[in-house]
Amino acid sequence: MKHVCSLLTLLVSASTLASEPTVEDFGKTKDGEAVQLYTLKNEKGLVAKIMTRGATLVELHAPDKDGKSADIILGWDDVAGYESEDNQYFGCTTGRVCNRIAKGKFTLDGEEYTLATNNDPNHLHGGAERSLDKVVWKATPFTNKFGQGIRFNYTSPDGEEGYPGKLKVSVSYVLANSANRLTINYKATTDKATPVNLTNHAYFNLGGAGSDTVLNHQLKLNADNYTPTDDTLIPTGKIESVEKTPLDFRKMRKIGARVEKLTETAALGYDHNFVLNSKKDNDSRYNLAAMLRDPESGRTLRISTTEPGIQFYSGNFLKGQNGKDGKTYAHRSALCLETQHFPDSVNHDSFPSTILKPGDEYMSSTSYTFGVTKEQDQKTEK
Ligand code: GLA
Repeated sequence: MKHVCSLLTLLVSASTLASEPTVEDFGKTKDGEAVQLYTLKNEKGLVAKIMTRGATLVELHAPDKDGKSADIILGWDDVAGYESEDNQYFGCTTGRVCNRIAKGKFTLDGEEYTLATNNDPNHLHGGAERSLDKVVWKATPFTNKFGQGIRFNYTSPDGEEGYPGKLKVSVSYVLANSANRLTINYKATTDKATPVNLTNHAYFNLGGAGSDTVLNHQLKLNADNYTPTDDTLIPTGKIESVEKTPLDFRKMRKIGARVEKLTETAALGYDHNFVLNSKKDNDSRYNLAAMLRDPESGRTLRISTTEPGIQFYSGNFLKGQNGKDGKTYAHRSALCLETQHFPDSVNHDSFPSTILKPGDEYMSSTSYTFGVTKEQDQKTEK
């Protein structure tokens, strides 16, 4: 009897497990390294495809208000697209330190470090050659009672891209089975003190990648404050209120309503780090960061994170690249919501620290929950 019961338990739990992720070849890098593409699917219609180069989100399909699915992130059909000059960090894991480090310099434990100034005069998104978006990661698919996932691992040697310490990084993408939620969990350890700040750089257009504009999307950010910057987008160190500025997204606003007020600034539009209010989401580890919706398709996206900040970037550098499926990516036709520690934290003692020490573990998690709204009256503030 006891055996029958445990067999039954085993069968029941096996039947509640999601099916295994699938894998296919995605081609080779210019150095001849093979790249794989993994597919995660759930019962609710969300499909995520992630490749081993840069642990990069390549496709993300979500249903609209009529149940019609579309790929809502920018990307390419092949590795060559991702290796081209046109790739502005589409969908990648970004680091070791995402966003900018002033003049590519910082001092840690009395030693000065110099990094690539690949966004003149600053360092951007981990460097020029071997940043985390450009290397091929090792993938391990898994399935558990919550859904399907892929864990990507990469060991960055001491000194890679100028950063101290051998950094062991893992990034897991987990697609929930019972909800349209994709969670990205980041972990890292080091053998020398080193700055770490990881994010995902997906470009979203909830109307479908390749749609004209995101200026009709509506956005709400859980942020009373932001970090003002100089003309090279390096924070001044101050934290200021969004009140009476075009950065006030405390109530749902149409993105296009005030973006032109920023076109003539150094940011060229929205390209700002918002300081998240520490209003916790349901799970107390997470801050609610952003709500995005597209009135046309009805698709919505809710982002929650363990990070203290979020960079809202309105695709100001998109220039009509030819992307996946013959689609064109026009200026401001997609946006990024990059959860992270504040830019240039390594040079600002007053910001939450990005320094990882030997013996400690870096941990960060962000969830993206997709839904639909059928509301006719999608009210926004003026
Ligand atoms: C980030 C930066 C932007 C831009 C994009 C990539 O979001 O803040 O200024 O560099 O990455 O093009």
